Amino acid sequence: MLIPLSGSYLKLKPRRECCTLQVPVWAPQTSKYLNRIYMVQSRSFGSSAINIPRNPSFAKLNSDDISYFRSIIGDKNVIEDEDRLSAANVDWMGKYKGSSQLLLLPKSSEEVSKILHYCNSRKLAVVPQGGNTGLVGGSVPVHDEVIINLGLMDKVVSFDKINGILVCEAGCILENLNSFLENEGFIMPLDLGAKGSCQIGGNVSTNAGGLRFIRYGSLHGTVLGLEVVLANGTVLDMLGTLRKNNTGYDLKHLFIGSEGSLGIVTKVSILTPPKLISTNHAFLACQDFISCQKLLLGAKRALGEVLSAFEFMDSHAMDLVLSHLDGVRSPLPASLYNFYVLIETNGSDESYDKTKLEAFLLRSMEEGLILDGVISQDINQSSSFWRIREGISEASVKLGAVYKYDLSLPLNNLYDIVEEMRARLGEAAKVIGYGHLGDGNLHLNIMTSRYDDDVLAQIEPYVYEWTSKHKGSISAEHGLGLMKANEIHYSKSPETVQLMVDMKKLLDPNGILNPYKVLPQSFFN
Ligand code: FAD
Ligand code: MLT
Ligand code: ZN
Repeated sequence: MLIPLSGSYLKLKPRRECCTLQVPVWAPQTSKYLNRIYMVQSRSFGSSAINIPRNPSFAKLNSDDISYFRSIIGDKNVIEDEDRLSAANVDWMGKYKGSSQLLLLPKSSEEVSKILHYCNSRKLAVVPQGGNTGLVGGSVPVHDEVIINLGLMDKVVSFDKINGILVCEAGCILENLNSFLENEGFIMPLDLGAKGSCQIGGNVSTNAGGLRFIRYGSLHGTVLGLEVVLANGTVLDMLGTLRKNNTGYDLKHLFIGSEGSLGIVTKVSILTPPKLISTNHAFLACQDFISCQKLLLGAKRALGEVLSAFEFMDSHAMDLVLSHLDGVRSPLPASLYNFYVLIETNGSDESYDKTKLEAFLLRSMEEGLILDGVISQDINQSSSFWRIREGISEASVKLGAVYKYDLSLPLNNLYDIVEEMRARLGEAAKVIGYGHLGDGNLHLNIMTSRYDDDVLAQIEPYVYEWTSKHKGSISAEHGLGLMKANEIHYSKSPETVQLMVDMKKLLDPNGILNPYKVLPQSFFN
């Protein structure tokens, strides 16, 4: 269905007529929810994670185990139903698939504690699961691990309106938390395309970055406290609500980004920023990557405190979205330009913010950094800009197989790897580059119609070696999961990895928490 626009874009007129801004007719698309992909591949691909043998020291589930779980969390939350299990066994991309026979849905930290205490004593391996939107195979079992999903732990515990501090259970869905806060005049400090499904516990456990990172920074900064259940069932109360608290080691940081390998996050205390009244969005076209880079530096300088997002995508990513997602239209003529940038400002003075943004855009056009662009005039237009950017993951999986890389790189050569991979793979694959340019975070997606070992061998380890050589990180925000557990050495020194292994063994001596993920399996054989 085409939804008519309520108004046209603001047409910017450069003082020097070097280029024009378009006012096209197009249809906005505001759906924020994810379309799940259930087309499962027969093998798990990605790095060398394929064919991991089951750790024989783990026990196999029996009927006594099921009876025990029923006695502590109730019959209806012990799931053995095939359909529900098959959805929980496969990841969002349909790429990683386990064979768990049991899904547990605890309702409280005490229930999580009892489950883990029992699993630890029985040596039953478990996989903590949130919204199952992770992109590195961390949220699904590799073999028959028991799945513990926090979805029923979805209550707000408290909201301190004076200090903007939210305390909630780990199973709260990010978008629901944001809606709750908006009613109180606040917002969540993070936002991502998976907001309609991902849980705050999953966000904390992956240290998710997302679209507001440029403005509000990492969860290591905004998370004030956590409640975590350890492998032996101990409930670790670190649920502080203070900004400053230098009393010994700040252990919550160990669990932020540990991808369920050290404990299950059950409650989160987080600092939330006030909701500001004025938001502006510009969708822009640039000739080359260097222009995007210069535009970012200019935006940071000129827009300063109101800059709240700076996202980019290449024309290949744009084409992919336009040709694979229904109802999505480009606000700019597609295929004419090489790069697109989405800028968001968020401030407290509508006319000041708008004037500031327009002046910056006009100046940038005159300097030739922007070839074409539009400023949204209403919320539908803004949503449509975001739909294009947030739709890239969804469009990518429609091609069949996605080899997904999430790299942190110095800005000056951030895009080079995309061009190199395109040249390296030729016609064999479609290669796109996009991401959170404001944070130096490139998403490199390589798509083929089906997973293929020869294609994989062309990509890996080349992409990891290249990243390491350029002083980047092989995971900016998605984590290591199953996909990159064996590749951690590209971004961390041997001594650091050894200390991580020691900590894992200290906190989880039986290795029951999310086995085969994050750290190389060779340390645990
Ligand atoms: P899951 O996928 O269920 O789990 C992720 C990992 O965390 C697993 O290792 C799991 O074992 C562990 N885990 C989950 N819950 C808990 C818990 N309570 N305690 C301990 N461990 C737990 N990521 C970004 O960083 N930035 C983005 O912009 C972004 N955009 C995305 C857009 C789309 C369309 C999709 C599909 C994904 C995107 N992601 C992004 C990846 C993903 O959404 C994030 O990693 C998210 O934080 C995962 O949350 P989840 O609740 O779905 O966790
Ligand atoms: C994004 O920024 O869109 C996400 O990290 C998801 C992805 O890259 O697929
Ligand atoms: Zn991202």
